[in-house]
Amino acid sequence: MTNHPQRVAHRGGSYLAPQNTLAAFRNALTLPVDAIELDVQMSRDGRVIVFHDYTVDKLTNGHGNILDLDFAYLRSLNAAANFPGGWPEPQQIPTLREVLDLARGNVQVYIEIKPSKRDNTYGSYPHIAETVIEEVRTAAMLDQVLIISFDWTVLPLVKSIEPTLLTGALISRDVWNPDSAQALDILIDQVTALGCNWINMDSNLFTPLMPAVTHQRGFKLGVWTVNTGDKLCLLADSGVDSLTSDRPDLFTIFS
Ligand code: G3P
Ligand code: CA
Repeated sequence: MTNHPQRVAHRGGSYLAPQNTLAAFRNALTLPVDAIELDVQMSRDGRVIVFHDYTVDKLTNGHGNILDLDFAYLRSLNAAANFPGGWPEPQQIPTLREVLDLARGNVQVYIEIKPSKRDNTYGSYPHIAETVIEEVRTAAMLDQVLIISFDWTVLPLVKSIEPTLLTGALISRDVWNPDSAQALDILIDQVTALGCNWINMDSNLFTPLMPAVTHQRGFKLGVWTVNTGDKLCLLADSGVDSLTSDRPDLFTIFS
């Protein structure tokens, strides 16, 4: 297939290497990918780090909620500590800047701004939108980045601070009820109000009507997270604009 969707390595390709580490992103650059996806949060002392979970307990050799941890401690941890099957070298939790430097001129970067979470209560890291934008500006990569989030308050903020940055609303059952009448139209109205360019849909919620309807309203449609070749082909044929996978090695099917 020559006309394929954008191929996105989820967390750098989390089945292939420890997720959201430089090892994963470097590996992704050896594969047929157009973009890498990563998650950002902030240390207690205000540094933007690339990490998915709200606590470091499951993925690293450390303990605690990101909200309570300083940058120096986070950098002392091994983000490859619990990779299934082990990993030959310890991996630091990267800074956003380190990953942007790796990607510059090579691939697009989907930056997912995570909300903070404590005791099942979500919040926003103070100034995370401003800080991320400053990093992207400093890296001179405004035209290489898509900002995505489940936190729909952060998306219009990003757009108002830096209108040239593309933004995408992440859609899952947590933020959208697909079962109501007119659900897709209502969703598109909501995302239009957020000023987004992309709709980034959980693959479990995807329906074949979505590409035409979203395109007709001026949106690009991305789908995550798709980890089999059959499903990638099916979705590519349906006309989606990007496919995000933990298995970016599978993207050879589009070559
Ligand atoms: O790209 C969207 C996807 O990453 C959202 O889910 O939990 O893997 O960050 P999650
Ligand atoms: Ca993510």
